[in-house]
Amino acid sequence: MDMIEVGQLERDIGASAARAIEDELDWEHLPHTHRTTFSAAEVIHAGRNGWEADVVLVDGTPMRMRVTLDDDRMGYTNATFADGIENGRAVARLEDTGEDSCRMSLRFFVPEVAGTDYEAVGEFYVALFGNLIDEDEPKMIYRTNALRAGAAPHKQRRTAMLADGSACAVPVVCPHQGLPLDCEPDGDGVMTCPWHGYRFDARTGACLSGQIKGWRALG
Ligand code: FES
Ligand SMILES: [Fe+2]
Repeated sequence: MDMIEVGQLERDIGASAARAIEDELDWEHLPHTHRTTFSAAEVIHAGRNGWEADVVLVDGTPMRMRVTLDDDRMGYTNATFADGIENGRAVARLEDTGEDSCRMSLRFFVPEVAGTDYEAVGEFYVALFGNLIDEDEPKMIYRTNALRAGAAPHKQRRTAMLADGSACAVPVVCPHQGLPLDCEPDGDGVMTCPWHGYRFDARTGACLSGQIKGWRALG
């Protein structure tokens, strides 16, 4: 199907293109970092050049999403499909503008379908991706800091309170990617990391959702 360009967005981001690409390859963060847009993501396959997943929007709309990195790894195409038919495409190019900054240029395309209000669709995409980038930028910046800081922040603890009134020591950064573990234990003592939704037993540090080991109590 012919695709029509309906909008463009340029954004200066306070992290390198490498961090932006890392974020784009990170399908797991969609229903967590972007919880106001996505309610679920189930991966079909994922690799270093892209991924495919079945995602659900917060309004219940299911779609398949496919991310394909450009050969030079400085851009990507993010395409969505309904019933196997492509219904939208964002094409991004990145340019490093400093050690910790890049410019992202996005172009949005939709199928040529009679009666489509292309201007309205374009505005929708610009607003949607603007919001997604607003949510991604802090993550990319925290990630830059985490990679530079290495292991030290993983040994820092703070006090969290459990429902029974007892206190426990929990890490300040998540053992998954070193992003801030800005959450509190729920009534069952479970902490859900806001970035990828991994769940941890606040008392033991065990990762209850199973993707990683979790953290170790510091003796
Ligand atoms: S940083 Fe990924 S789950 Fe916490
Ligand atoms: Fe994102």
